[in-house]
Amino acid sequence: MNHHVEVLLSEEEVDRRINEIGKQISKDYAGKEVHLICVLKGGSFFLCELAKRIDVPVSLDFMSVSSYGKDTKSSGVVKIVKDLDESIKGKNVLVIEDIVDSGRTLSYLMELLKDREPASLRLCTLLDKPERRVVDVKVDYTGFQVPDEFVVGYGLDYDQLYRNLPYIGVVKFD
Ligand code: IMP
Ligand code: MG
Repeated sequence: MNHHVEVLLSEEEVDRRINEIGKQISKDYAGKEVHLICVLKGGSFFLCELAKRIDVPVSLDFMSVSSYGKDTKSSGVVKIVKDLDESIKGKNVLVIEDIVDSGRTLSYLMELLKDREPASLRLCTLLDKPERRVVDVKVDYTGFQVPDEFVVGYGLDYDQLYRNLPYIGVVKFD
């Protein structure tokens, strides 16, 4: 479909906000280690920028999930495409996601991770679309709340494109 991308949040705005979140996380986890779990692929750009701004010891792991086709909408079940490499038992886990939309993916994922007995479990998302929420999810750190529009950049894609944009854009259909 013919479309173009308009800037919603500039590179400077996003960088500034990630700096603030990094400082907040460093404060909240002072004296502890934090284990960041990046949800691929969308969370990867945010993870890298954020991790550089956290000054407590950081370890990383990656997970990839995908929807079970149409059924996901009702069941909220997601398929683990790539599981974590390491156990999270006893660790202070912070999940890093690109966007919380309906909340289905994250509510499923957070329950699954909770069962693996981390010492603590929190969620950090770059973007939140609260208007779209269907399933309740507790978000501990949010970069920005965005309107109900399709956003791209900073890891977020439209048909696998635009993940590399250094800003958050909105897809406008012409
Ligand atoms: P949820 O389970 O509906 O919260 O789905 C969240 C996932 O859908 C995110 O991790 C994104 O991969 C994708 N998603 C939701 N909204 C957008 C958007 O505006 N742009 C790009 N991807 C999105
Ligand atoms: Mg995602």
